[in-house]
Amino acid sequence: MSEMAKLIVREREYELPLIEGTEGELAVDIRKLRDQTGLITLDNGYASTGSCESKICFIDGEKGILRYRGIPIEQLCEHSTFTETAYLTIYGELPNEQQFEAWREELRYHTLLHEDLQHIYDMFPTGAHPMAVCSAVVCCLSAFYPRKETESPEISIRRLLAKIPTIAAWTYKKSKGQPLVYPRNDLSYAANFLNMMFRLPTEDYEIDPVAVRAMDQILIMHAEHEQNCSTSTVRMVSSSLANLFASVASGISALWGPLHGGANQRVVQMLAEIHEDGGDVSKFIARAKDKDSGYRLMGFGHRVYKNYDPRARILKGISDEVLTKLGVNDPLFDIAKQLEEVALSDEFFIERKLYPNVDFYSGLILRALGIPTEMFTVMFAIGRLPGWIAHWKERNEAPDARIYRPRQVYQGYTKRDYVPMSERS
Ligand code: ACO
Repeated sequence: MSEMAKLIVREREYELPLIEGTEGELAVDIRKLRDQTGLITLDNGYASTGSCESKICFIDGEKGILRYRGIPIEQLCEHSTFTETAYLTIYGELPNEQQFEAWREELRYHTLLHEDLQHIYDMFPTGAHPMAVCSAVVCCLSAFYPRKETESPEISIRRLLAKIPTIAAWTYKKSKGQPLVYPRNDLSYAANFLNMMFRLPTEDYEIDPVAVRAMDQILIMHAEHEQNCSTSTVRMVSSSLANLFASVASGISALWGPLHGGANQRVVQMLAEIHEDGGDVSKFIARAKDKDSGYRLMGFGHRVYKNYDPRARILKGISDEVLTKLGVNDPLFDIAKQLEEVALSDEFFIERKLYPNVDFYSGLILRALGIPTEMFTVMFAIGRLPGWIAHWKERNEAPDARIYRPRQVYQGYTKRDYVPMSERS
């Protein structure tokens, strides 16, 4: 007999099973709550709601721990590559040599986009936000590569992972009015992306190994983060049995918002604003503390981390290293460090446990690599793809998979009659 929780409602007592995760997290299983009691739960923003059981990612927000399939993010960042981490995230185990070689080959094989997709790029106006283009093109893949009911989803998984760097780089090239650069399958995932972004027919472009490694590490850092807004969106959309491309396109849209992945773009904009304003960070901290201002320190705070986001810690170290190695002297990096120092010693931030999150330092590295600010969230999307795919797959393969369909507590009008237009005030 499993452990039970007791719920007393208007003097009636109900028993609900407790579920324990492998890391000791406890949850009250309310799956039968409505059937048994007629009650539902209300949880704005799902802060206390587990939407599924999952084996992909573990976070301890209090201790600042993040592991993909059990392996600490620090180890992956130091020893792994993005393609290997993607395999681990999606399939649950590190690949052996043979599996890894086959995986890399497949990801290289599918890098080209259908030539007709170029017309779709042509339809977007100059200045279109790259996230709008990326989300649209990813969704379009379902028109170019429809999957038959009987076909395995594995081909779609490989296509999407292989093509997303091409989709992203072409978005940038189109926005600049520059000729498209085709993928090069002799290069690594990150090197191929940088080559497609920055090569021009008019000059030499040397792919810097420091930039390649930094890009790879940034992608690893973003690969997975359990039930965040965009991943929950992917799971939600896939629960209607929508295809992988459509589900991921919705994830890209969810990621775009400034409270989620869009924060990386906003962080650099905020730091630039502070710099242009003379560099006084305390003025901006005061603004963020003033509730009436509606202003927030971008790249600070997290729903789950009530401690330093481990990714931010790693990225801070990488930015220091990359800026030095690339010889970049960015005044925004000093402002970021100052801002962090002042915020972390301020009572407002201490009390609310607001620490730098993944977006705080990632933008500074991307900037040092020459990635334009508007492309930052697209970089996040490339990185998060393995996580979205892993959750899409896990949800589809779950024996108890059901369509996502939350309830609500209705607070609107009770029944009333239609009033003809002529009688309305
Ligand atoms: N600056 C100033 N105050 C903040 C900030 C911030 N960045 N973040 C939270 N707070 C304050 C809130 O005003 C609130 O104060 P109160 O309790 O006095 O009302 C308290 O801290 C809790 O904030 P909530 O908004 O309730 O926290 P929630 O968990 O809903 O939101 C979020 C988390 C969206 C990340 C929030 O911290 C935020 O807006 N941060 C800035 C945007 C950002 O960096 N987003 C990226 C997150 S990481 C990612 O998605 C990849």
